[in-house]
Amino acid sequence: MGILEKHAVLEKSPTLLFVFSLVVVTIGGIVEIAPLFWLENTIEEVEGVRPYTPLELTGRDIYVREGCYTCHSQMIRPMRDEVERYGHYSLAAESMYDHPHQWGSKRTGPDLARVGQRYSDAWHVDHLIDPQSVVPESIMPKYGFLANTEIEGEHIEALLSTHRFVGVPYTDEMIEQASADFMVQVDPFGDWDGLVERYPGAAVSNFDGQPELTEMDALIAYLQVLGTMVDFSTFTPDASR
Ligand code: HEC
Repeated sequence: MGILEKHAVLEKSPTLLFVFSLVVVTIGGIVEIAPLFWLENTIEEVEGVRPYTPLELTGRDIYVREGCYTCHSQMIRPMRDEVERYGHYSLAAESMYDHPHQWGSKRTGPDLARVGQRYSDAWHVDHLIDPQSVVPESIMPKYGFLANTEIEGEHIEALLSTHRFVGVPYTDEMIEQASADFMVQVDPFGDWDGLVERYPGAAVSNFDGQPELTEMDALIAYLQVLGTMVDFSTFTPDASR
């Protein structure tokens, strides 16, 4: 019996065919998936990408809580229209510390992956309080209440520890200083050297313009860092090196 005739046996028996298909698919699956568990890193690391500061991380939680991702994506696809509108396409490394990622699947509003530093803090305040006041045709809801909710970062160490647990490289020092870093990022007159040393490039600003530290401060701190960690004037992707 030649090999082809043996194969005919499989083709004529649904049960055998099913069992052997399963074996083949399993082998294929293992070959594709198993190496990922042994690779040091499945994401090409890119210089500049750092964990979020305590305040940015808090802002990110507010972003998730308010469902901003239901209207905004954070992933610029490598297509000409997107790159011309939003900037360099998103790199996997840029969301490597995002748990969960905010790529999104719907764009009622624009992609926000590179919105950081595109507008002033004051623009964000006006826009969040009343989007139609700056973009008359906007259908974005108002989020002014965020400026009335004061926050103290009472669980900030736990928040950082939790992210460390899932793989974000927060150091012991970052966790010890979390509360101080949280407070000082909104205080341009404070002693924020340590913060910027731990989180290079972190923007220190009274984001919402009020004396109190509010949810709006945290949210704007987060928006202002989006897409700003990698310096694309010096970045060359691996494939084109
Ligand atoms: C119902 C859909 C919707 C939701 C929810 C929503 N937005 Fe928007 N957003 C829009 C639309 C539409 C625009 C474009 C018009 C404008 O600028 O207001 C926009 C614009 C923006 C911009 C300006 C982007 C740019 O490149 O000009 C920012 C920043 C922004 N939204 C942040 C947020 C944040 C933060 C949240 C959550 C607190 C949020 N949005 C929730 C619809 C939404």
